[in-house]
Amino acid sequence: MNSFVVRAPSTIHFGQNVATKVGEEAKRFGAKRPLLVTDPFINSSGVLEPIVASLKAASLTSAIYYGVDKEPTMEHVEECLKTQIDEKCDLLIAVGGGSPIDVAKAVSFLATNKGVIQDYMGIDKVTIDALPLIAVPTTAGTGSEVTATTIITDTSKNVKMLIISPRIIPKVALVDPMLTLGMPKALTAATGLDAFTHAIEAYVSRKAHPISDLFAISAVKLLSENLPLAWREPGNIEARSKTLLGALEAGLAFSNSSVALVHGMSRPVGAMFHVAHGVSNAALLGEVMDFSLSGNFPRYKDLAMAMGLADLGDDIKTAKSGCQKVRQLIKELEVPSLSALGVTAEKLGPVVSKMADDALASGSPANNPRLATKEEIIALYQASL
Ligand SMILES: [Fe+2]
Repeated sequence: MNSFVVRAPSTIHFGQNVATKVGEEAKRFGAKRPLLVTDPFINSSGVLEPIVASLKAASLTSAIYYGVDKEPTMEHVEECLKTQIDEKCDLLIAVGGGSPIDVAKAVSFLATNKGVIQDYMGIDKVTIDALPLIAVPTTAGTGSEVTATTIITDTSKNVKMLIISPRIIPKVALVDPMLTLGMPKALTAATGLDAFTHAIEAYVSRKAHPISDLFAISAVKLLSENLPLAWREPGNIEARSKTLLGALEAGLAFSNSSVALVHGMSRPVGAMFHVAHGVSNAALLGEVMDFSLSGNFPRYKDLAMAMGLADLGDDIKTAKSGCQKVRQLIKELEVPSLSALGVTAEKLGPVVSKMADDALASGSPANNPRLATKEEIIALYQASL
């Protein structure tokens, strides 16, 4: 058996109202001045009230940066870092979807390491421990609350920089399904399909190992059963809880294994056309699965069976039935196509070569069960419109 490593936050609280543990957790790190990092919607929605109350109960007064108004850019990171420095904050608390959590991760290590965010693109470039970070997700999607990854757009180059380091894993994740109840249907679908893609890619990745497999298969089961239910019945706390648990497990799976070709191709779509991450994943997932199957039919068969499909007595047939089910799920959740979002063949044509180069440069496609050439990636982009 190959050796492997498992990394995760030192503490994960899961369950209804665990967000109110933020004060006691911040206190545990000896924090004197926490910085809340969030987005403008959450700042005005009342979601922060129990969190701020919990901090007050622990005699902590926080500063706040709520400028993460879209998928995170280097400008967000610069602004948030300035707030951290000006307010002399010694601990970060990210409340939101993947975007505020990713900005907080970047600021947590820039506060203790030299240079600018672009210096850290790639794997294991962070050399000094980051400020402690408590992550409180409000979507069931990215799993960023437990991962060693942050993705920040370099707006000067239209590139989503992938930064991976065990030093940026949040110290604490407070994973509270009550915070996901207010998600609109489109956000539930997009973020849930991001999580579903994490689970699938973690399982078929060349870096998969026995522990990441446990999380990945469980996440596929949870999400295939409960995501459609949470989408149809937004107030169903049981479906919301299981969808959030699936997203958490999918995060643990891919952070310890990896993502693969879908994510490698998805980031350039987001950087170039500003399509939400979960939507671009969903647009690519069916085509990329069909392409990748032949790289590892038995693993795709396992995924089909985790989705509750029957063993057809033939790995190839069963694996293909799983791909069909994934396409059905995406359709059922009414995720818009790329062309419906304005990403037409005419707009794709002039930039698709750069997008394929950026996809390959990210390293994620190298984890795919079937390796893709640049020409094959271009063809997959064109087929996914
Ligand atoms: Fe993702």
